[in-house]
Amino acid sequence: MNELRHLGIIMDGNGRWAKSRALSRSKGHEAGANKVQMLCEYCLNNAVPKLSLFAFSTENWQRPKAEVNFLLGLLGDFLKSQKQNFINERIKFKAIGDLEVFSNDIKDQIFSLQEATKEFDRLNFNLAINYGGKDEIIRAFKKIMQNFTQNNTQITELLSAITEKSIQENLDESSDIDLLIRTGGEHRVSNFMLWQASYAELMFTPTLFPDFSQSELEQIVMTYKKKHRRFGGL
Ligand code: FPP
Repeated sequence: MNELRHLGIIMDGNGRWAKSRALSRSKGHEAGANKVQMLCEYCLNNAVPKLSLFAFSTENWQRPKAEVNFLLGLLGDFLKSQKQNFINERIKFKAIGDLEVFSNDIKDQIFSLQEATKEFDRLNFNLAINYGGKDEIIRAFKKIMQNFTQNNTQITELLSAITEKSIQENLDESSDIDLLIRTGGEHRVSNFMLWQASYAELMFTPTLFPDFSQSELEQIVMTYKKKHRRFGGL
């Protein structure tokens, strides 16, 4: 049986869920945000040590301004409302993505939640916001190069410093994803954790995210656990 050390989820289908109920897209996002607690509880109860959720991509800024603002408001509410829960449950929170673009208010809430939970280890919870897998890799390269320009180093040394290990260490999240689930019926990874998901098992379900249940999650994880993972070998 495969161990599940890092679970990634692309939470898709909120808009269609709302539309099918003649509700506004915002209601779908709200219903989606309310599912996050179930995912955390599943991980806590089943000894899954790391959960990464895709909440807002670098491409999501292209949505109508009202929807973007609603999603940012939801993010702010989430960061505030979950603080005590994360402390009680001993969950370590980390925001991944380029956080520079966010307002000081959101950044303060992110840093405050990260600070308040930094010693915890029951579950590592990563929330991907203004996140793109390509952007994360570019930022990792820039971090590596910045070290070198500061030290006035030769180009040959810089080239030898670019290794799988150094890139991985400079990503927002270093550990590989074991299982990546996408709800909502699309068969795409949509720029989510491209580096970390290079050998992930990909599982897609037509269920729209607000309808995604613990029992379906259990079934998917069971399928994952029974898979023969070869990592390019035999
Ligand atoms: C995709 O559904 C979902 C998103 C772009 C946002 C995901 C956000 C949440 C689940 C809520 C926010 C969560 C937190 C923790 C703040 P979609 O809008 O693309 O749905 P559609 O494909 O049916 O239109």
